[in-house]
Amino acid sequence: MTTKAEQIRSQVRDHYGAAARQVAEGSCNCCTPGPNPLDTTDSFGVGQYAEHQLADLPAFAAAASLGCGNPTMLANMEAGQRVLDLGSGGGIDVLLSAKRVGPTGFVYGLDMTPEMVALARRNIAEAGVENTEILEGTLEDVPLPDGSVDVVISNCVINLSPDKGQALAEAFRVLRPGGLFAVSDVVLSRPLPPVAHELLGLWAGCVAGALTTDEYQAMLTEAGFTDIEIVPTLVHDRAAVAAIAASFDTSGLTDPEALLDDVAGAVMNAFVRARRP
Ligand SMILES: C[S@@+](CC[C@H](N)C(=O)[O-])C[C@H]1O[C@@H](n2cnc3c(N)ncnc32)[C@H](O)[C@@H]1O
Repeated sequence: MTTKAEQIRSQVRDHYGAAARQVAEGSCNCCTPGPNPLDTTDSFGVGQYAEHQLADLPAFAAAASLGCGNPTMLANMEAGQRVLDLGSGGGIDVLLSAKRVGPTGFVYGLDMTPEMVALARRNIAEAGVENTEILEGTLEDVPLPDGSVDVVISNCVINLSPDKGQALAEAFRVLRPGGLFAVSDVVLSRPLPPVAHELLGLWAGCVAGALTTDEYQAMLTEAGFTDIEIVPTLVHDRAAVAAIAASFDTSGLTDPEALLDDVAGAVMNAFVRARRP
């Protein structure tokens, strides 16, 4: 890995390690604009889920939700299927998917942050769900065999990867032929100014690492995927981007307000679907 990639990974791990600890203590400011994920707007976190989905979840699983969508609604999961959740965090999508695939199916979560792995395992134990396993590892080196899952889901994580080409190649490798990639993610409608990509806090806040929709399409194609759909669902305005920026140090910037003007309106939640042929 390059030094820059190592710095990104370390910043992201520190950020989500702290988030997992804060969730366990009852407060968090992560990809979400509010100080508490239970108080999020509709753009991030638990607000993306239907009430009936949340009803049976342990409180900490819902509170740990840091996603930008609901990938469990993007895939037509069937009983008996095997699912992998890339960057599973506190495990909300693992638990919801485990219910969908039933006792004959199996759901793997994968996360590189030890505190998140511990939080997800605790939530799964509390929910009494047995058809899941949380793996500790990275998107760029998935610890599963080739063709071992039917569906890959992910919620607000691909944008955080310092090597998205490798992460998408790994998603393709572990899917069986015909398998579905069904992901919620942050994407860009236009490139950000170069200075934005240098801000590690903005990267950990799910903005600076996001791909434009054209870049995403090209990288999925390069990885071998077909039937690619990228559909923006929400555009983040200036206030939303300012709320994310407020959680990290912008003192090194000569003109933070100008940067916010440049970034506002470019950042979107989207769903991304593609198939391994
Ligand atoms: C924004 S949170 C989303 C968590 C979860 N998907 C959800 O919806 O609540 C991002 C998660 O991805 C994990 N993550 C980020 N980059 C990763 C990588 N390259 N490999 C594995 N996990 C990663 C972080 O540790 C964190 O738990």
